[in-house]
Formats: sequence, structure tokens, C-alpha cells
Amino acid sequence: MLWNKSLLLYLLLCLSLHRSLLITNCNGFQKAFVTQANTPLGTTIRYDAEKRERVVNEDLFSNIPKDIHFSNKILDTCAVVGNGGILVNSSCGEAIDSAQFVIRCNLPPLDKGFGKHVGRKTNIVTANPTIIVKKYGSLQHRRRQFVDDVSIYGDSLMFLPAFSFAFCTGLSMSALYTLEDFRSSVKAVFLNPEYLKSLDVFWRSQKLNPRVRISSGFMMVSLALEICNNVDIYGFWPFAYHPHSFQPVTNHYYDDQKASSFHAMPAEFAYLIKLHNEGVLRVHLGECPGDKFSLF
Ligand SMILES: *[C@@H]1O[C@H](CO)[C@@H](O)[C@H](O)[C@H]1NC(C)=O
Repeated sequence: MLWNKSLLLYLLLCLSLHRSLLITNCNGFQKAFVTQANTPLGTTIRYDAEKRERVVNEDLFSNIPKDIHFSNKILDTCAVVGNGGILVNSSCGEAIDSAQFVIRCNLPPLDKGFGKHVGRKTNIVTANPTIIVKKYGSLQHRRRQFVDDVSIYGDSLMFLPAFSFAFCTGLSMSALYTLEDFRSSVKAVFLNPEYLKSLDVFWRSQKLNPRVRISSGFMMVSLALEICNNVDIYGFWPFAYHPHSFQPVTNHYYDDQKASSFHAMPAEFAYLIKLHNEGVLRVHLGECPGDKFSLF
């Protein structure tokens, strides 16, 4: 009896350990993106991926939200959806959309029959400025296509790494101006480089050693661990073959563009498996509904 009690306490401690460590060390609740509360007028923003600074002037200050409000209390269920080809024919759309809060990465398509497998609900969507360059001509020309494309994300927050590299800043501002000028329901916010730096330090201290930078997917997993009691992970699978059928899987569920070596995806994935085995989150690789709690 006593043994059972200590085991239970131990398990509860493990489950909440990552959250409390992330809250104390990174504090995404207050710092995930740049706000007037965490980045007052006149302060200096230090970029996280290169040596560069920018002072918060009136113009920038007036374009950032007052504060962060994900929710009034810790959410019960969150889904973080990566874009891996593992989601093809998974029928996981319904399971993903049943989460209270859904985080997606890098402006993924949700229409054209993908919805059944990846869902549609979106509360946060990240946008890599490279897509804005390649797909939307850096928003220097006609901009309606961008606004139309992102309308599938409803009234979500678009997370832009405005202060990671120099080239990201202007592109992120253009995205924000475009969304506002066209009265999009999607709201652009800028990831806080201080938060990103603290994530980097934290995950290194946990012995995850990304070669360059943790991926935006892993950043979003970290945020979800702070704001949610239950975190379900879909679409993360960095290998070329399916774990069940052994059929080849494409790199993304919507194309087969090869991954760059910029991130250490297999190392991050191995870490997700470790967290899965510790019961901290659940990695889904199978078809839905089905093996809700098992990895393979
Ligand atoms: C997905 O399902 C479609 C339609 O049944 C099929 O044509 C396609 O080969 C499947 N793709 C994979 C990767 O299983």
C-alpha cells in the first residue's frame, strides 16, 4: 500500500516535472511571443540566432499585442501536428480536431482532402519566413493569395520568428501588415527570441543536443507541455519508411521536399520517444482511431 502510494507520487512528479521545469526556465505563458508586457518601449531585443539587436521603438511597440492569453487556465488537451508523410491516410483528422487546442507548423495545407487525415482546427500556426519568400514573393507584389491561403486557419495566432535572423524581421512585419490590412482573422505575433534562447538552454541541459537549432515543431511541443495537461503529438516521423507497413513515406504529407540538415530531427524524435515512454506526452504514429496510447 505504502509502496503503491510512493509509486503514484513518483509518477505524478515525473509528469509535472517537465512542465514545472519549463515554466521556471522558459515561461512560455508570459514570454512565448513579444508583447508590450514582456518587451516594454525602449528595451533592446537580442536576436536568438545571430548577433544583432533592435531597440523597441514606437512603431514596433504599437504593432505588438498587450499581453499573452492562450487561455485562462491550463488546458486539458493539446495536439501538436507536424507535417510528416506519416499522416498520409492516417484518418487522424477527427482525433486531432477533438483536442481543445491545436498547434500546426509552417502553414500546412488543410484542404484538398487532407482534412480527413490532419484535421482543420488551428489555434497556433507557425510560419517560416522562407515560405513567405518562396511562395508569396516576399509579399512585395499582390498579397491576396497569402491572405486567402491562411484563411483556413480561422482566428488562430500566426507565430513568426521575427527576431531570429535579420532577414526574418522585414518579412514578419510584412506578414503582419498584410493580415491587418486585409482584415484577416489570423493574427500575426512575433516569437520572443528570449524565449527561444531559454528553450535552447533548457533542452541542452536535458541532454538533447540539437546540432544547430531546435526545430519550430519542437519549440511548439515545449510550449504545449507548459500550457496543457495532455499533449498528443501527430505527424512527427523523420524516417523514410512507415513503422507499420514499411512502405516508403514522403517527407511531408503534402509533398516530398527533402529535409535540410539544418535541424537534428532524428535526435529530436528520439527525445519525443523518451518523453512518450515517461508518460509526459503521447506520440501517435498509427492510424486513428486505434492505438490511442501506444506508440507503434
Ligand atoms: C492513400 O490512400 C489512397 C487512396 O486509397 C491510395 O491511392 C494511396 O496509395 C495511399 N497512400 C499511401 C502512402 O498509403
